[in-house]
Amino acid sequence: MRTPFIAGNWKMNLNRQGAMTLAKGLAEALDSISNVEVAICPPAVYLSEVAVAISGTSIGLGAQNMYHVGEGAFTGEISPLMLRDLGCQFVILGHSERRQFFGETDATVNAKTQAALANSITPIVCVGETLEQREAGSTASVIEEQIRGSLAGLSADQGSRLVIAYEPVWAIGTGRTASPSQAEEVHSQIRQLLSSLFGSSVADLIRLQYGGSVKPENAAELMSQPNIDGALVGGASLKVDSFEGIIRAAG
Ligand code: PGA
Repeated sequence: MRTPFIAGNWKMNLNRQGAMTLAKGLAEALDSISNVEVAICPPAVYLSEVAVAISGTSIGLGAQNMYHVGEGAFTGEISPLMLRDLGCQFVILGHSERRQFFGETDATVNAKTQAALANSITPIVCVGETLEQREAGSTASVIEEQIRGSLAGLSADQGSRLVIAYEPVWAIGTGRTASPSQAEEVHSQIRQLLSSLFGSSVADLIRLQYGGSVKPENAAELMSQPNIDGALVGGASLKVDSFEGIIRAAG
């Protein structure tokens, strides 16, 4: 059985005080949660303070991006060693906003995924099609190319340590969620592809999150699908009540 995994992607939101208030609020509200794994991914500048606020709780800490090299002359970048140093167990990689606005490609996501795994950080590798691609009927081929490219060269053992997030670009921040059957269709395709890459016993272990306008109202139905094992939550992760509602719906 796969333990459901809900991660909050705070994106470039909140100030220092807001981040601390949210982290402390979640630490209190989620105290009794045991059947769902939870992580929060604050902006990098707040990671160390948030780490203190959630220490001693079961809430995990993740970053929203990283560079693939350990250290060196890479102005403005943050390395896997630094994330580890701050206590990050997770890192979101290849989010569609990184692909769209910062030129990330399957090749850069692949390098970062390898680096995260080499440093014992669990990558949450994001894939998803745009509206144009969906309307052109190319969702399946786009997802296959992103998965193959982002995971190129990984061993089955490395594969077993991945989390994959399917986030249709047209559903992110738009209020327009993929229907449970639309999401399940892609998730089951991803599971089959992972099975061909790593073998079915490894593919069965990998958590597949859905992301894109997940809210307390639609979370239970999405999560009841056989291949949806959690959610990557943006907007609704910025309030204790809505994030807690999603987590309770997953349990
Ligand atoms: P959203 O974002 O929940 O605000 O749609 C999801 C994401 O981008 O991870």
